[in-house]
Amino acid sequence: MGILIKNGIVVSATESKQLDVLLAGETIAWVGTGISEAGHEVVDATGLLVMPGGIDVHTHLDMPFGGTTSADDYTTGTQAAAVGGTTTVIDFALQSQGHTMREALDVWRAKSKDKACVDFSLHMAVTDLGPGDGAQGLREMEEMVAEGISSFKLFMAYPGVLMIDDGLMFRVMQKAAALNALCCVHAENGSAIDIVVAQMIAEGKTEPHYHALSRSPKAEAEATHRAIALADMAGAAVYIVHVSNEDSLAALKFMQGRGAKALGETCPQYLVLSIEDQMPGKGWDEAKYVFTPPLREKWNQEPLWGALRDGSLAVVSTDHCPFRFADQKELGRGDFRKIPNGGPGVENRLQILWHFGVNAGRITPERFVALCATNPARIFGMEKQKGSIAAGLDADIVLWNPKAEYTISAATQCMATDYSMFDGWKVVGNAAKVYSRGELVVNNVAQPGRFLGETGRGRFVKREANGGGLA
Ligand code: URP
Ligand code: ZN
Ligand code: ZN
Repeated sequence: MGILIKNGIVVSATESKQLDVLLAGETIAWVGTGISEAGHEVVDATGLLVMPGGIDVHTHLDMPFGGTTSADDYTTGTQAAAVGGTTTVIDFALQSQGHTMREALDVWRAKSKDKACVDFSLHMAVTDLGPGDGAQGLREMEEMVAEGISSFKLFMAYPGVLMIDDGLMFRVMQKAAALNALCCVHAENGSAIDIVVAQMIAEGKTEPHYHALSRSPKAEAEATHRAIALADMAGAAVYIVHVSNEDSLAALKFMQGRGAKALGETCPQYLVLSIEDQMPGKGWDEAKYVFTPPLREKWNQEPLWGALRDGSLAVVSTDHCPFRFADQKELGRGDFRKIPNGGPGVENRLQILWHFGVNAGRITPERFVALCATNPARIFGMEKQKGSIAAGLDADIVLWNPKAEYTISAATQCMATDYSMFDGWKVVGNAAKVYSRGELVVNNVAQPGRFLGETGRGRFVKREANGGGLA
């Protein structure tokens, strides 16, 4: 006996069609028309869109950062993801300087053990290749790829914590090229930003607003160009995370035009929030929006939407890095350097992108599926398992109600923060039901906002090294 989803419109990255979908156990058994109902549980999806479960390739769960730890652990974070229609996340294991990647991997596997509620994978953030010529670290990169961690994160910001220099970055990129792995880069010129930050603090500019002003779009654009140029020299595929502004986009497009193997993502916050609206310099409340890169002037938003349409940006992730306002953001009152950087968003990615993207006519439903599921699966080496509705793939499915009215609210959300970046916003379009490997884990119609599966059911996804899916 399977689950037969009938009468819905199946939306893929390229087309929308009325088709039936049969789930058998954990996988999709059949997609087509005229499948017999006999022996199956029939789910009537009339009026609903049948889409692949969302894949959020950029989350920070249970991550020590800025003197505290991100508020969502693997349980609350993955439950919030599921409630919002996301059935797979890729989180970051952070190597500490002086320690090995293996140690980082052990720590992050322990964090997720018996806690993850949907499937997940990990990127490895490299901060150290070990003593001497770095042979030990380069060997570890081989081990990581063999274990299904086919993407490496490189930070050009956060000096003294996560930032690496260009030499180390280049060596990692050369090795990644040899392994056909993908380099994900946080592109901001951390050294220059640190000087501006110190000067602002010396001038008494300590409010959250100055966090945004201290991190110029030019510092991001410069680093974006440098990262892609170095990756190109090394022959590596590179993926620029959280592109926030038009200058950086121009650098990305320029290098793509020159044939570099360069991909990029943006996040909902950069598409719908701005300095003018959220961080005008009116007080402490703005600490809620302290993340890096910071919010930008509003005029940057339409170029980002344009890039999502024309393909120069291939993915929308969240950079979900939640901290509570009451006690965690509070650490930086009076000194913006001490505000833990990050914001909550894993629960709302699909709602925001649908409402402001599809409903507003900026992107099609098919592009929505490409940006939220199909491209992430392809780029990050799991397209044989996830990201599309096709026989043989995991039965990760969202039944999406494009007409559902929903008010985003900190009071009712699953994320463990005491605020929402979109609090009180009314959106149209929401996940009605969510299946993770064939199991109904969310029913937002009958039991809104509740995760129905067992805690710890989420599995680690081993990913292929496929050079970002680029030829
Ligand atoms: O502010 C942010 N984005 N925090 C998480 C770490 C990062 O830079 O992605
Ligand atoms: Zn970052
Ligand atoms: Zn991040």
